[in-house]
Amino acid sequence: MTTPLRIAILGSTGSIGRQALDVVARFPQRVQVVALAAGTNVTALAEQAATFAVPNVAIAEPALLGKLAAELPSASVSCGAEAVVELATLPDVDLVLNALVGAAGLRASVATLAAGKRLALANKESLVVGGELVTSLATYPNALIPVDSEHSAIFQCLLGEPAEDVSRIWLTASGGPFRGRDLASLERVTVAEALAHPRWTMGPKITIDSSTLMNKGLEAIEAHHLFAVDYDTIRIVVHPQSCVHSMVEFADGSVKAHLGATDMRIPIQYALSHPARWDSPVAPVDFAALGHLDFEEPDYEAFPALSLALEAGRLGGTMPAAMNAANEIAVAAFLRGDAGFMDIPRVVETVMSAHAEQPLESIEQVEAVDAWARATAAGAL
Ligand SMILES: NC(=O)c1ccc[n+]([C@@H]2O[C@H](COP(=O)([O-])OP(=O)(O)OC[C@H]3O[C@@H](n4cnc5c(N)ncnc54)[C@H](OP(=O)(O)O)[C@@H]3O)[C@@H](O)[C@H]2O)c1
Repeated sequence: MTTPLRIAILGSTGSIGRQALDVVARFPQRVQVVALAAGTNVTALAEQAATFAVPNVAIAEPALLGKLAAELPSASVSCGAEAVVELATLPDVDLVLNALVGAAGLRASVATLAAGKRLALANKESLVVGGELVTSLATYPNALIPVDSEHSAIFQCLLGEPAEDVSRIWLTASGGPFRGRDLASLERVTVAEALAHPRWTMGPKITIDSSTLMNKGLEAIEAHHLFAVDYDTIRIVVHPQSCVHSMVEFADGSVKAHLGATDMRIPIQYALSHPARWDSPVAPVDFAALGHLDFEEPDYEAFPALSLALEAGRLGGTMPAAMNAANEIAVAAFLRGDAGFMDIPRVVETVMSAHAEQPLESIEQVEAVDAWARATAAGAL
């Protein structure tokens, strides 16, 4: 019998975290959860830890430590941002699934790789804000496996292919709930409309990012870092059926596409099973029933957040960190009802215009830019 893969799930109470535990529940002989972390949802965290008999549990909110400890008397429990990161470095952790949301995930990604663990990365913001700080540590085999469905698709298309033969990466986008809408009509959209994603059920932040197309801009930056390709090599295409998860075009004109059901448990599971594949309960795509696959250009005018993210990526250095922090503040304000939908790109643009990017040097520098951008964004709302 093979020894089980020992994993830590950071952000276990979120959309990705819960789906990851769903995968784990089906493979008790293959995967063992040795650490869990979440932000504030102490009830769900304690329940997960008890169900999976998890020995190490951390909660970011210090005030909730007492409740967590009371519910898990036999586990090692800790609190605070540092405690969450420390789980990634525990000696008995083989793989860390970083399913935290936002730039807060950067330290965990860096700590995981610095400790020589395998990083299954859902937290795309790590790469957006910390790019080279993360990838420069991913020097050993299978150090960094993407979980984002598009990047998992690209990763799989690239297996066995020399990097120099890649001529283009086709990054597919569903187009979100407002595909086909014009700029003027987007001024009036509500939070409920923006949260109604046509294809995927996800956490609130990424769902809003998908509706502004900011998510696709973040993903282009993520692809740039993961696959060491320049921005001219990345082409974004709207594909409303979300069946083609992304494609890679090669020097000879051949294109490899990754297709499948729209279910995040597939890329989450692949990040655990790679290079093997395990059975999945997800219903396969019925191509005859699907009938057709459509592709179209994104509407850069109606969705300025996409252009802003791409511009930040091209400028590089600390600009993506400033852009990302401004977006996080504006999205949170929109979700609270304190900002309009089009305030999101407006605030991002204001912050980017006020920031002079510097070459990326350290986590501390990224965090300083992040803090400055959050304050500037809050002032621009
Ligand atoms: N959802 C998807 O289908 C999907 C697809 C592709 C990529 N992603 C990426 O995966 C990441 C997670 O997305 P999600 O949709 O799963 O988000 P989510 O549902 O909002 O979950 C976020 C998780 O992170 C925890 N958390 C938040 N801030 C934290 C902090 N400071 N310290 C510790 N834990 C913290 C939350 O804990 P509490 O709830 O307890 O506060 C929760 O467990 C994002 O980067 C997203 O872009 C998601």
